Amino acid sequence: MCGIVGFIGRKPAQNILLEGLRRLEYRGYDSAGLCTLTDHQFQLRKKAGRIQDLAALLRQQPATGTCGIGHTRWATHGPPTDVNAHPHLDQSGRLALVHNGVIENYHSIREHLTAAGHQFQSQTDTEVLAHLIGHHYDLIVQQRGKPEPAYLVEAVRRALKEVIGTYGIALLHADHPGLIIGARRGSPLLIGVGRHENFLASDVSAIVAHTRRVVYLNDFEIVTVTGDDFQVTTLDAASVTPEIREVEFTAEDTERGRFPHYMLKEIFEQPQAVQNAYRGRISHDECTAKLGGLNLTPSELRAVDRIVFVSCGTALHAGMVGEYLMEELARIPTEWEYASEFRYRNAPIEKNTLVFAISQSGETIDTLAAVRESRRKGHKTLAIVNVVGSTIAREVDGGVYMHAGPEIGVAATKTFTSQLTVMVLLSVLMGRMRHLSAPRGAEILRELERIPGKIERILAQNDTIATIAKQYAEANSFLFLARQHNYPIALEGALKLKEISYIHAEGYPAAEMKHGPIALVEPRTPSVFICPQNSIYEKTLANIEEVRARKGPVIAVGTEGDTELAKRADHVLYVPSTLEVLEPLLTVVPLQLLAYHIALCRGCDVDKPRNLAKSVTVE
Ligand code: AGP
Repeated sequence: MCGIVGFIGRKPAQNILLEGLRRLEYRGYDSAGLCTLTDHQFQLRKKAGRIQDLAALLRQQPATGTCGIGHTRWATHGPPTDVNAHPHLDQSGRLALVHNGVIENYHSIREHLTAAGHQFQSQTDTEVLAHLIGHHYDLIVQQRGKPEPAYLVEAVRRALKEVIGTYGIALLHADHPGLIIGARRGSPLLIGVGRHENFLASDVSAIVAHTRRVVYLNDFEIVTVTGDDFQVTTLDAASVTPEIREVEFTAEDTERGRFPHYMLKEIFEQPQAVQNAYRGRISHDECTAKLGGLNLTPSELRAVDRIVFVSCGTALHAGMVGEYLMEELARIPTEWEYASEFRYRNAPIEKNTLVFAISQSGETIDTLAAVRESRRKGHKTLAIVNVVGSTIAREVDGGVYMHAGPEIGVAATKTFTSQLTVMVLLSVLMGRMRHLSAPRGAEILRELERIPGKIERILAQNDTIATIAKQYAEANSFLFLARQHNYPIALEGALKLKEISYIHAEGYPAAEMKHGPIALVEPRTPSVFICPQNSIYEKTLANIEEVRARKGPVIAVGTEGDTELAKRADHVLYVPSTLEVLEPLLTVVPLQLLAYHIALCRGCDVDKPRNLAKSVTVE
C-alpha cells in the first residue's frame, strides 16, 4: 500500500513530487524518498519518517531537474529505515526504481543476482527488482551497443516476466533523461496527461492539482512517458490504445479545508455523500431504484437466487448490513464473506449466484482476487466502488459507483454510509422485482431522502460527543453491542475505535454477551450499546441492565427523546428516529465521532494511524 508519483516536463520536479507524495501519504507513511535526473546524474534523497522529514532533507539538499520519481512507503519487506526507503538503485547506480506491491520470488532472484556479483544495500524486494531490470538492460546494451530507450523497455519486459507477485512501478535511467517508464500488475498506476508535462501516480489525488485527464493502466501494461507524449504497450510488446478519462473531483476536494483532520471533514461530508449515492437513482413513480451500471437485464436480475458480498474491513461491515437489507426487502438468500477467505475457500456457488464486491478504493488485493476467482468460475460479478476507473471497477461485469468523492482519512467514514445507501437502493430495486410492495418501497425511499438531514442533526452533537469521549479515553478495552441491522454497526464502531485510538475493542450481537463476553465487564471496560427504539429495543435494554448490574459503564446510542434509556446508561448519544432498515445509516455516525475524539484525547494521528494504510494492495 505505498504511494508512487512521477513527473516529467519543463518545471522543477522536486516540489511537484513532494506535493504529490503529501497527497499519497495516506497510502503509506513510514518512509519516503525521491530521485530526480539532470545532466545524466541522479539526485537521490530518501529517509525513514514522514513526508515532512523528507521535505526537511530537501531544504538542506535540494534535488534539481525536471524529471523525477517519488515514493511513500508502507513497509512490507524490511523495516522502515533510510536504506529501505525508495527509490532503489540497480547495481550500476544508473537505474532508479519505486515500487508498490510484493515480489514473491525476490529471494531466488536475489540469490541468482548475488551469484552474478550483485551487491544489495537493503532488505527490500524492490531493490532486487531494480537490479534485475538493470541486469537485463546492461546485457542488452553489451549485445547491441549504443544505449537506446527501447532497450530499457525491453529490459523491463524481460524482468517483469520473471517476476511473481504484484507491482506498480516507475523507473528512471541515467542514460535516458527524458524518459520515465511505468508498469503495473495488481497495484494501481495511472498516467496524468498534462500540457508539455506528464505524470505517473498510484492514484489521482497525487496529481489532480495539475491535470484531471488520466489514463488508468491495466495489469501487464507498460508505459513510456516523455514530457510531450506517452506510449502504452503490453508485456508482450503489443500496442495499446489508451483511454483518456476526465476525473470527477478537483484538488480542492482533497483539501482539509476548515477541519483539523481529513477524518472529521469526511465524517461531516456524510450528508452530501449519502445524497451523492442516491442522486438520480430513485424513481418515485415506480417506487424503486434505478441503477444503470449493473449491466444486467431485468430478467437476469429477476433470476438471481443468491447473493454473496465479498469485501474487507469496513466494506465487509457494509456487506453485513447488505445481508439484512437484501434478505428482508428482496427475500434473496444473501451472505457476506471475508474476501481473503472467499478467494481460497472454493465455496459451492450455483449458476444464478451474484458475487458482489464492495470496495471504496477498488484496489484491495483480497477483494480483487475474490472478483477474479469468481469470474474465473464464470460468475456474474458486480461491485460497489468509490474510485472511478479503479481495478475492481474495470474488471467486474457492472456495478454502482458511490460518488462519495476522495476519502483521504485512513479510517473509512463517508464511504461507509455511502455504501450503506447503495445497499438500500440495491435491496429496494431487487425487492420491487419480487415481493416488496410499492407503498413499502416508496416509504423506504422517501425516508432515505431524509437521512442527510438526520445525519446533520447528529453532527450538531459533535462537541457533546467530544466531552463524553474525554471520560473514556483512558479505557483499555471496549465492548460494542447491538442486535439485527445494528450488529454490523457494533463491529464497525469497534473497528473505528481500535484502528485510530489503538484501544482494544470487540463487537458482538448483544444477546451473545451472556455466552462469554460478559466476563469482560468491569468498571474499567465501557460497553457501547446501539439501542434505538425499535422492534428489539426491550431486549437490548435488558442487556444494558445486565452490564450495569456488574458495574460496567454504558454508553448508549439511542433515539432522540428516549428518556428511559437515559436512566439506564451513563451517557446517551442520540440519533433521530427512522425506519429500522435505515438505522445503520444514522447509528454509525456517533460512533465515528466517539472514536475520533477518543483518539484525539490519546494524541493519536487519526488520519494516518500506525501500521495502517488506506488501500491494502498487498496480501
Ligand atoms: C476501515 O476504516 C479501514 N480503512 C479498512 O478496513 C478498509 O475498510 C478496508 O481495507 C477495505 O478497503 P476498500 O473499501 O478500499 O476495499
